[in-house]
Amino acid sequence: MPRQETHFTDHYAEVCKALGDWGALLLSLDANGKPNPMTIGWGSLGIVWSRPMWVVLVRPSRYTYGCLEETGDFTVNVPPAALDDVAMFCGTVSGRDHDKIAEKGLTVLPSETIRSPGIVECPIIYECKVVQKTDVVPEAFDPRITQQCYPQGDFHRVYFGEVLRTTADPAGVPTLLR
Ligand SMILES: Cc1cc2nc3c(=O)[nH]c(=O)nc-3n(C[C@H](O)[C@H](O)[C@H](O)COP(=O)(O)O)c2cc1C
Repeated sequence: MPRQETHFTDHYAEVCKALGDWGALLLSLDANGKPNPMTIGWGSLGIVWSRPMWVVLVRPSRYTYGCLEETGDFTVNVPPAALDDVAMFCGTVSGRDHDKIAEKGLTVLPSETIRSPGIVECPIIYECKVVQKTDVVPEAFDPRITQQCYPQGDFHRVYFGEVLRTTADPAGVPTLLR
């Protein structure tokens, strides 16, 4: 069955499992138009300002940070368990000196609503447009979080991406659960 449009809340449990386990791939374009996937383990899918929203946290040291500032949109691609090595690769090397899509043999899929493409090999793809961004306030954290998550500083910028379109490959969704 071909990939089809779906509601953003469909497959929520599978998406949370992947995110908390091997991660999802946040893809944006760099200034030259090169698609750059970066693994995220932290993010939230829900409703903000009466809109479906992915809220993602990106440290300024990531190449992706500049891509998001440049492009203003991104896709969240949920890979199957079998691609956990791809998630590890995209979460440990940088688009500054790697073409991660080419090196991992991934296939991009043009989006319908934004410039950043999706990744064919991922059963669920969300097309998101940045509608707000804000930096976390270091002094406002519970100190346990500062110690655990920010030993070097490098505090996140939080991007709110309105979900404009969600697609799923029905045959691929069960592969999200190990
Ligand atoms: C499982 C996993 C989850 C990650 N989650 C995040 C995240 O939510 N935010 C972030 O800024 N970096 C996160 N990272 C680190 C980036 O993915 C990593 O630094 C990546 O190499 C950055 O790529 P880029 O320089 O091409 O943007 C994660 C890494 C892994 C392996």
